Amino acid sequence: MDTSAKPKKIGILTAGGDCPGLNAAIRGVGKTAIVEYGMQVIGFNAGFSGLINNDYIELKESQLSGILTLGGTILGTSREKPYKLVKDDNSDKHKPEKIIENYKNLNLDCVVCIGGNGTMKTASMLSKEGLNIIGIPKTIDNDVWGTDVTFGFDSAVQIATDAIDRLHTTANSHQRVMIIEIMGHHAGWLALYSGLAGGGDIILLPELPHNIRSVCKNIEARYEDNKPYSIVVVAEGISHHKNKSAASHIAQAIQTYTGIETRETVLGYIQRGGSPSPMDRILATRYGAFAAQCIAEGCFGSMVAIKQNELTTIPLEEVGGKLRLVKSDLSLIKKARKMGVSFGDEYL
Ligand code: F6P
Repeated sequence: MDTSAKPKKIGILTAGGDCPGLNAAIRGVGKTAIVEYGMQVIGFNAGFSGLINNDYIELKESQLSGILTLGGTILGTSREKPYKLVKDDNSDKHKPEKIIENYKNLNLDCVVCIGGNGTMKTASMLSKEGLNIIGIPKTIDNDVWGTDVTFGFDSAVQIATDAIDRLHTTANSHQRVMIIEIMGHHAGWLALYSGLAGGGDIILLPELPHNIRSVCKNIEARYEDNKPYSIVVVAEGISHHKNKSAASHIAQAIQTYTGIETRETVLGYIQRGGSPSPMDRILATRYGAFAAQCIAEGCFGSMVAIKQNELTTIPLEEVGGKLRLVKSDLSLIKKARKMGVSFGDEYL
C-alpha cells in the first residue's frame, strides 16, 4: 500500500446501544488507519450527537492502546437519529445539514459508523447525501442484515448462558419453574443461543408464535417424567401484555395454569456490560482493520460484513432498515426439537 499519498483524515463514532467489543473495533480501525495508512483519526463523542454538535477528540495511536479489553465505548454512545424528527419538528430539521457542514469543515475523508440496524440506516442516508461512510455492525442482538455475525453477540451469549447455568441449581433445589428473560429486541438469536447453550427446556422466541397452554403442557409432562424443575428462556421481544415484562407475563400464566411454583429473572443490561469475549475481540479487530483498508481503497457507502467467516462488504442501502431474524426452519431449531427442547408451539 502506498502511504506516500496525501494522508487522509477520518472520523469514528459508536451509536445505538453499547456492547462488548466497541473499543476493540475503534482500536482496530484507528491503529490500522494510523500505522498502516498514515491517516489522522478523530472520534466523535456520543454517536451522531457528536457529529451534529462538532464534539470530537483527536485519537492518537497512544490513546488507542490499552482499550482492547475494555467494555463500553471510550467515545460514548447515544440513540440520536439525525433524520428522525425532520417531518414532525422543524427545530430539528437542520441536523443532517449540520453533519454535512461539520464533515466538510473538518476536512474529513470518511466517517466510520459503528452500530446496529438503526445506525446503518442513518449511515446509508448520510452516504446518499454524498458523505463517505463505512459501517461496522455491532450488537448483542445479532440482527444486522447482510452479515452472519455482529460483535457483542458472543460475549452476551456467554453472560446469558452463565446466568441460565446458575438458575439450574436453584430451580432444582426448590423444584420450581424458572423463567429468564433475555434481550434481543425483535430478534431471538440471543435467547436461542444462550437457551440452547444453557440447556433451557423451553425457549420462546419472537419469531416463533407460542401458545401458553402448550408451554404448560410441556412443563407438566416434564414433572410427570420425574423432571421436577424447568427452565424457560424467554426472548424480551415475544408478544405479551405491554404493562408487564415478558418474563412476568409468562411466569404468571404458568403458575396459574400449572399450580407449580414459578420465579422470574430479567437479566437486563448485565448482558451488554463488561469485557468482550476473546471471539468478540478478534471479530471487532477484524472488522475494524478491514474498515480501514476499505477507506484506503475508497470502498465507501458500504458496511463491512462476514459471510462464511470471510470479510466482505455490502452496500449500506441494502442494509438500512432491515432486520436479520431467526427463521423457523433453522437447522439448529430443528435439531433442538429432535432432542425434546420445546419452542412453545408443539401442542398447537
Ligand atoms: O440493541 C441492544 C439492546 O440491548 C436490545 O437487546 C434491547 O432491546 C435494547 O438494546 C435496549 O435499549 P436501551 O439501551 O435504549 O434501553
